[in-house]
Amino acid sequence: MTGWMPLRVAAHRASSATLAGAYPFLAALPPTEGVYVGVDAFSGAPFCFDPWTLYAAGALTNPNVLLAGVIGQGKSALAKSLAVRSVAVGRRVYVPGDPKGEWGAVAEAVGGTVLRLGPGRNERLNPLDSSSVDVQGGSTAAGARHRLLASLAETSLRRPLRPAEHTILDDALQQVGRRRVPVLPDVVAALGSLNEGSAHADDLTHAIRRLVKGDLAGLFDGPTTVRLDPNSPMVVIDLSGLGAHDEALGVAMTCAAGWLEGVLRSHGGFRWVIYDEAWRLMRSLPLVQRMQAQWKLSRAYGIANLMVVHRLSDLDAVGDERSEIRAVTQGLLADCSTRILYRQETDQLTSVTAAVGLTEPERHLLPQLPRGTGLWKLGRHSHVVHHLLHHEEARVFDTDAAMREAPR
Ligand SMILES: Nc1ncnc2c1ncn2[C@@H]1O[C@H](COP(=O)(O)OP(=O)(O)OP(=O)(O)O)[C@@H](O)[C@H]1O
Ligand SMILES: [Mg+2]
Repeated sequence: MTGWMPLRVAAHRASSATLAGAYPFLAALPPTEGVYVGVDAFSGAPFCFDPWTLYAAGALTNPNVLLAGVIGQGKSALAKSLAVRSVAVGRRVYVPGDPKGEWGAVAEAVGGTVLRLGPGRNERLNPLDSSSVDVQGGSTAAGARHRLLASLAETSLRRPLRPAEHTILDDALQQVGRRRVPVLPDVVAALGSLNEGSAHADDLTHAIRRLVKGDLAGLFDGPTTVRLDPNSPMVVIDLSGLGAHDEALGVAMTCAAGWLEGVLRSHGGFRWVIYDEAWRLMRSLPLVQRMQAQWKLSRAYGIANLMVVHRLSDLDAVGDERSEIRAVTQGLLADCSTRILYRQETDQLTSVTAAVGLTEPERHLLPQLPRGTGLWKLGRHSHVVHHLLHHEEARVFDTDAAMREAPR
């Protein structure tokens, strides 16, 4: 005969706020609206995500998302699933810079548009294209063209333009006129003629001429070859052909940012803007400042920015400690109300805790997370979610193919 005694444990009462801190994973039910992501690891319930619905419900203070994790954990796969599943419910997706060339196949699979830039690829992106600048009328277009050319020159010169240089740039744009879509060689020719007898424009002309004659020739100096239709379900600018040419990457991102700004302003609807490998794209102060402006406007325009990095300290590596670029980058992180953390190395835990505010159980969990599983911090709530990849998605998203290929 087995005897038993009733278990007597003193009852413990606490407010739901306190219990949510003590048992972060048990406290909140996973969101049920939005696109299906996978399963909540603790409850087994389906986990869905839609930053716009959560923002509208007051659960998030903005729709932007940070996704961080060590190499090969499935960050891009998650971003791609969010993208294609969102397309299925009518959202559109823009990937303004894809340095690894992984997103083109995804866009093609959902009937989207891909522009592949690189030497020898015969595709061009005209930074002065009317679709790359604001299309609402000549004066706005002229202003947008000026801003774009100024940031291109500043990226190349690594310094702000002087007032006299801005004036000369304005004069050159006036000279190329508003009647047709100008291309960069027109601007260089106009600068050349204005330049005669003036010392100010020399640097400016050289900076822009590099895009026409120098090492960056053939990428930005002619009419855009693919129509980047803003109504396409997904638009990807593939920069993998630029390889490790950081400067070309910076210029391409600046041109892409110009196109994106025009589109975001002049078209409506909920859109994802995805920066995979964001730390490689955040090269120059003008570029990061443009990203910041877009971040700030995300709510007004219905955009959710998704920034993918390896470690949060990647963001520290942008510029030296006190530099402006670093402050702006940190601001971007602070403006991501959703933080998704995939596996992190133990040496990162202190900086992650400082930036994101991890509880003790979360700190223990992060270095052990398996591939495809992440800690989702949605405002004040946390969930551990296993992302379920459909086999068709896995086929299109596969980034391990090269690792499995027989050596040639
Ligand atoms: N949830 C998942 N279930 C099964 N396989 C997955 C899952 N997520 C990713 N994978 C597979 O893992 C591999 C690596 O994924 P992915 O490229 O998304 O990682 P990553 O974190 O973006 O890596 P990197 O830091 O190198 O960009 C891919 O081949 C992908 O198919
Ligand atoms: Mg990736």
